[in-house]
Amino acid sequence: MSEKHVTLHDPDLPEPVELPVVEGSIGPEAVDVVSLYRRTGKFAYDPGFLSTASCTSRITFIDGDEGILLYRGYPIEQLAEQSSFLEVAYLLLYGELPSREVLEAFEEMILHHTMINENLKRFYSGFYHNAHPMAVMMGVVGSLSAFYHDATDVNDPRHREISAHRLIAKTPTIAASSYKHSIGEPFIYPRNDLGYCGNLLHMMFAVPCEAYEVDPLAEKALDILFMLHADHEQNASTATVRQVGSSGANPFACVAAGIASLWGPAHGGANEKVLDMLEEMGDVSAIPRYLARAKDRDDPFRLMGFGHRVYKNYDPRARIIRRVCHQVLEKLGDPHDPLFELAMRLEEVALSDDYFVERKLYPNVDFYSGIIYRALGIPVKMFTVMFAVARTVGWVAHWMEMLSDPHHRIGRPRQVYTGARRRDYVPLERREG
Ligand code: ACO
Repeated sequence: MSEKHVTLHDPDLPEPVELPVVEGSIGPEAVDVVSLYRRTGKFAYDPGFLSTASCTSRITFIDGDEGILLYRGYPIEQLAEQSSFLEVAYLLLYGELPSREVLEAFEEMILHHTMINENLKRFYSGFYHNAHPMAVMMGVVGSLSAFYHDATDVNDPRHREISAHRLIAKTPTIAASSYKHSIGEPFIYPRNDLGYCGNLLHMMFAVPCEAYEVDPLAEKALDILFMLHADHEQNASTATVRQVGSSGANPFACVAAGIASLWGPAHGGANEKVLDMLEEMGDVSAIPRYLARAKDRDDPFRLMGFGHRVYKNYDPRARIIRRVCHQVLEKLGDPHDPLFELAMRLEEVALSDDYFVERKLYPNVDFYSGIIYRALGIPVKMFTVMFAVARTVGWVAHWMEMLSDPHHRIGRPRQVYTGARRRDYVPLERREG
């Protein structure tokens, strides 16, 4: 804690109140309002957390004005270029880049825990074939808590670590099985000789009756997307995982709650909605009509994949994804994919439109990711599931960080009550109307 203070002048109080300032290593300072209610009788009011830091964290840093994203201090551009998803997972969990031996041991440990209990598979048959894979994912990940609950003591750091590893290892298997269930194909067992993303592609696209070879470019593209999606500090789903975990809840239940939050179209569900929107638009002639709708206050329509709570500049992840899109379409899809061309034109028109310029609305991570997923043969309904698999790393890293802080408390917000004042119950026979 620094020596700095801000002074609050409240006409209701006899003298000014000094509130301490919390300083991070980089980024904005925060006014510590923990003592605000005790000292002033007033709460801080910030629906949607526009100005509230809910915790301190050492994991990820974002400068939204400059378009900077750092994982444990390392720029996302350098990681996407030189690292791998499992190395990034290690970095996010443990804070440092691993040595070669440590990385190999970590990879081996994750890649050898990818099988799920055979009984868990029976859960899938309870879902209709056309159930949304995010709904299935949420249910099945949540039900992992039924398998490991008694063996998980969230107060034991080793138990927390094992749970984190299990979640990272098993979510691809659960995700791929959700897909297989939706198309009526048999579940494919994981293969320990494949890499993390290669194994996921194998479990999604292999069938028992013929050999399947993982395309190295597809695996690499997915690995890059997963690095970009692995964490994003206190986003809605991570904040949800922390909130649920703050009560000491089971980690598998916490991550299921994170999946639920991610599913919303304002968050991770946007990647699915971007594709729906582009397909609905059809071609560039529809752009003016859709932009007009996005700008119309009476129309709830928003340009999906545009805008971000934190980035008021180009999302650095979108910039990387746009480049990967070119490479993937060049080799695996149609280099003149009309949807990609439509997306690029939409971006160009929106970024020269006063409405988007004034509000600093830029393409976010979801704007181009769907086009890559589509080129890899991943169906639209699975897009947010892919995001969930990658973000599981961030969720468990934050959950572990929170529980290892001896000062952490249950997350229990206050409210400003605006309902009826105290009144007496009126018996039914005396009520009017
Ligand atoms: N299209 C049109 N207008 C928009 C858009 C958009 N995509 N996004 C924001 N705006 C406008 C708002 O209408 C508002 O205008 P106003 O000041 O005239 O009222 C202004 O920009 C600010 O928007 P807010 O909703 O206040 O911004 P907030 O930070 O609450 O929301 C969000 C951020 C949810 C991402 C929003 O930009 C949005 O809905 N985008 C589309 C959905 C999307 O792509 N989500 C993915 C985000 S990335 C991720 O979660 C992985």
